[in-house]
Amino acid sequence: MCGIVAAVGREGNVVPSVIQGLKTLEYRGYDSAGVAIVSDGAIQVRRRTGKIAVLEEDLGQNGLPESSIALAHTRWATHGAPEDRNAHPHRDHLEKVVVVHNGIIENYAELRAELQEAGHEFSSDTDTEVLANLVASLLEENSGDLHAAIRAALPRVHGAYALVAASASDSDSLVIARHDSPLVVGIGDGVTCAASDMPALLGLTREFLVLENGETAILTPDSCQIYDPNNQTIERAVQHCDWTPEQAEKGGYPHFMLKEIEEQPDVLARTAFDRLHDAEGDVEFESEFGLDDQALCVFSRLRFMAMGTSFHSAMLGKLFLEEFAQLPGDVVNASEFLYSPKLKEGDALTVIISQSGETADSLRAMREVQSRGGKVLGICNVRGSTLDREADHVVLTHCGPEVGVASTKAFFGQLAALYLLALRVGRARGVLSQEQGFELLSDLRHLRPKLDALFSEAAAQAVQKAADILAPVNSCLFLGRGFNHPIAMEGALKLKEISYIHAEGYPAGEMKHGPIALIDDSFPVVAIATPGRTYEKMVSNIEEVRARSGAVVAVAAEGDEKVSGLADATLFVPEVPEHLSPLVNVIPLQQLSYEVAKRLGKDVDQPRNLAKSVTVE
Ligand code: AGP
Repeated sequence: MCGIVAAVGREGNVVPSVIQGLKTLEYRGYDSAGVAIVSDGAIQVRRRTGKIAVLEEDLGQNGLPESSIALAHTRWATHGAPEDRNAHPHRDHLEKVVVVHNGIIENYAELRAELQEAGHEFSSDTDTEVLANLVASLLEENSGDLHAAIRAALPRVHGAYALVAASASDSDSLVIARHDSPLVVGIGDGVTCAASDMPALLGLTREFLVLENGETAILTPDSCQIYDPNNQTIERAVQHCDWTPEQAEKGGYPHFMLKEIEEQPDVLARTAFDRLHDAEGDVEFESEFGLDDQALCVFSRLRFMAMGTSFHSAMLGKLFLEEFAQLPGDVVNASEFLYSPKLKEGDALTVIISQSGETADSLRAMREVQSRGGKVLGICNVRGSTLDREADHVVLTHCGPEVGVASTKAFFGQLAALYLLALRVGRARGVLSQEQGFELLSDLRHLRPKLDALFSEAAAQAVQKAADILAPVNSCLFLGRGFNHPIAMEGALKLKEISYIHAEGYPAGEMKHGPIALIDDSFPVVAIATPGRTYEKMVSNIEEVRARSGAVVAVAAEGDEKVSGLADATLFVPEVPEHLSPLVNVIPLQQLSYEVAKRLGKDVDQPRNLAKSVTVE
């Protein structure tokens, strides 16, 4: 999705800083990039289709003057093809105002017609150019005051937006506004900046404040004045972000995805270990969780909602809950919830899972639940995100910034958090004894050293052998049962996202009801067959695949000769209790998809058409 970075400083040139910030947003997915400055009463813009490197090359040839004010943007096309003329920033036709914008202006066509009638000319197909012209058309009647013109324009705009604007006549201030698209403000030393995502500003500051829906703000080098929807000024406390710029960098790895896969043992410690109270056999979340034993006993069911990889976490959230707390769980795709019949929420707690905390479908579902009188527990990785701020209760996953578009460590952190949640609910409801709680905690503590085996030379060679099987094919199947059904789906999603090989994840029992028709010697199957109550059934499924000449890549416990004897390649994993097997089994599947994508020469960290935060529905 689109990315915004803008800054206004007391002195010096902020253009390199905003371009650097844009680079940290590359992971969000984009097709063009641009930057604008205000200098000597005029706005200058450079924008190019393609990667930020293309824009930088252009800046090298057609440099911009140094400027202490700059607005930059990466665009992910919604209105109009990815072409230079559609890239942001956009100016009005008289070049009085410049705007960068994330989101979608739904009534842009009628506004454009109206503005054309009034003599405005358009050079792009975008909704953002309409916004620039609308603001410019209101500038005169607001005595040239950009903030007032934007405030006059916004009630006419339907849709979602995060925007930053500047006026040709003022090189000392930026005006920002937000409705349903994220925007954070960074407070630096003699520089104030804004971006759609915190990591973009870590090179300038680690002090942030978040703009809430309906608010606007004026940024100057030494101040950020926020206005509420009624144009009253608001004071907001600045928050410190403990993410370091290094965490958002590759640190010697060829790809963020590889770095993030290898960070997972540490994620386990960061998400879980500080919350474990071994003596009580229980879990203690931070104050923002806000649900005590009594509150947790009121709910008769939990509903888990999310999208994409987080949806696979949701599936496991239900399984953990039913296993540890004997409480029914539902799993609902967040984008489908909005269109379901508006039943009473009753005494359900809805758990919304989102690594970014900004996924539009998940946020809409959250608000819908709340509007029906229900309570929402958000599980997310980004402090200050919309989910963190708007959910009634929150558990942060503390994974550090995840940059690769294909989610790996954030998924792992979600699983750890959901495991803890189920345990907490089980303890609160008296389903788990102190001793049982202690055992489940100690299983988790013992997991971390076991994960080392997944990063050994032997494991890497096994991944290579499995990649020999998958890299040449057009399509394949991932099978798992029970706790590993969501992992089969996640394995398939990872492969499809970054290698563009078609893959589907199925509960293995479903294979005979249709997908088996696909199996022949060109159609491999990845089968998760680690110890547990479904082990024998998985072995039978592997036999069935082999009987049809399908190649098998198995995930099996170290030393399992039965499964490895049947498989063409085996990804061995350390043996762990069945309920923890998803946290182990997902790792070799992530490594496999990474290896296949790398061999095929794909853009691992920024796969085509995908975006890190999907902020439109
Ligand atoms: C993960 O690999 C995907 N890129 C995608 O499915 C993602 O999980 C989904 O868009 C939800 O994102 P969220 O966790 O930030 O809400």
